[in-house]
Amino acid sequence: MKVMIIGATGLLGKALLREWRGDEVVGLGSGDLDIRDAGRVREAVNAAQPKWIVLAAAFTDVDGCESNSDLAFAVNRDGPVNVAQAAKNAGARLLFLSSDYVFDGRKTTPYETDDVRNPQSVYGRSKAEAEVRLLEESPDCCIARTSWLFGAGGKCFPDTILKLAASRPALDVVDDQRGSPTYSVDLARAIIDLCRKEAHGIVHATNSGECSWFEFAQEIVKASGLTTPVRPVSSRQMARPAPRPAYSVLSAKSLRRYGIEMPEWRHALRHYLEERKS
Ligand SMILES: NC(=O)c1ccc[n+]([C@@H]2O[C@H](COP(=O)([O-])OP(=O)(O)OC[C@H]3O[C@@H](n4cnc5c(N)ncnc54)[C@H](OP(=O)(O)O)[C@@H]3O)[C@@H](O)[C@H]2O)c1
Repeated sequence: MKVMIIGATGLLGKALLREWRGDEVVGLGSGDLDIRDAGRVREAVNAAQPKWIVLAAAFTDVDGCESNSDLAFAVNRDGPVNVAQAAKNAGARLLFLSSDYVFDGRKTTPYETDDVRNPQSVYGRSKAEAEVRLLEESPDCCIARTSWLFGAGGKCFPDTILKLAASRPALDVVDDQRGSPTYSVDLARAIIDLCRKEAHGIVHATNSGECSWFEFAQEIVKASGLTTPVRPVSSRQMARPAPRPAYSVLSAKSLRRYGIEMPEWRHALRHYLEERKS
């Protein structure tokens, strides 16, 4: 089958391009196609005639979205609507990447796909509104929510922690936000599987297990053989422009319905650290 990956120059897009074998894959970055331009999106999709479009493009700077909400909604909500309309017009299926930040974080057990959205940030609102619009526009689309993405070929939390651990005497990391770190390679494999299994509706796709950012940082430092102390701090002490959910673990039930299991996050982290060395 033919597949179009929009957002192919991003963290997930790069992993999708590397992992997707046996099908014809076209990858586009923002320089090839700006999803805000409905006319160009329609032209590109009509020209390629893909069976699946994986939409991994987004304005992912969560704090940047707070001060640039017009851009956040244009790229994260209106752009996906353009892609959904073009997909419908060309008879292509759409898999859209969404986020754990569509939830408010007040739960203490994993979020199910039908839990109520209540985003706390501009980024979260832009993704939540995109989900609603896409389900109206093309009810058979697949929305894959993921969380705390890391991987090779871009800025990510483990990479930042390793750079800071090498240059600072100690690291302060927030301990009151819990989620599931997710390796771009494992997510790419799950997405490929979802497309091949003709998935539709909302699916939660993250590595299994959960931790706080502090625990994640501790594990990164330990697994890399470093001894830099990591100290727990509260979100209030490390104030940032965008509020984050205190708890955003996503339940794996929806993924299991497709017979897909993703590895535990510590296992995924070790794979990433090996990939980073090579
Ligand atoms: N990162 C996370 O922790 C996280 C967590 C939950 C969900 N997600 C979602 O997962 C998906 C993939 O995230 P990621 O971390 O791989 O993103 P990323 O590394 O920030 O990459 C973003 C991609 O979007 C493209 N893009 C940005 N604006 C565009 C526009 N106007 N038109 C077309 N393309 C545009 C970029 O193209 P250029 O590089 O060529 O400009 C790049 O390919 C996103 O939907 C994101 O919201 C991410």
